Amino acid sequence: MNPITSIEQLIECFDDAEPSEQVSVLKRIDISLNDFEKYATWIEGGYTRNCITRKEDFEFILLCWDRNVETSIHDHSGQHCWVYQIDGTVEEKRFDLSSINEVELKNHMKIKKGELTYMHDHMGFHSIKNISETKAMTLHIYASPIDSCQIYDQEKKHLKKINLEYHSLNGKAIAEEVN
Ligand code: SIN
Repeated sequence: MNPITSIEQLIECFDDAEPSEQVSVLKRIDISLNDFEKYATWIEGGYTRNCITRKEDFEFILLCWDRNVETSIHDHSGQHCWVYQIDGTVEEKRFDLSSINEVELKNHMKIKKGELTYMHDHMGFHSIKNISETKAMTLHIYASPIDSCQIYDQEKKHLKKINLEYHSLNGKAIAEEVN
């Protein structure tokens, strides 16, 4: 299969693909780090969500991670979630929620540069942490786009809905704290 070597080509191929072919498109990604850097914004001690493209059926979000930063345990609003590791290494932990609202760790894995993983609510909840010595970048493909999700509150042992925001859109910062 031909490699996909630019973000524009990736968006076009993903847009043209039938749902059953979408994963094969993502497996062809061979895009240089430089191409993603123009969409990157950074915050100290956190991660940024940078929208590369958003269409009716999908969105491509570049997440830029400072060292040791970790997401809450969360779901994906019933949508498909693929994570492609652009740079660095992250750890993904997967959890089930018990009948008494306790989270149970099911498994954990490292996602290394060039690897692709898939997550869906029927597989449980997950968290992602940058475990690299340096910053990291991941590409998240949601089909369809997600504007909110549920996060697990460890203290209160319940789920709460949060809205998901972008720090930048098409390479332009829209949040003040980013650089
Ligand atoms: C996010 O999109 O902010 C969370 C990362 C993910 O689980 O895909």
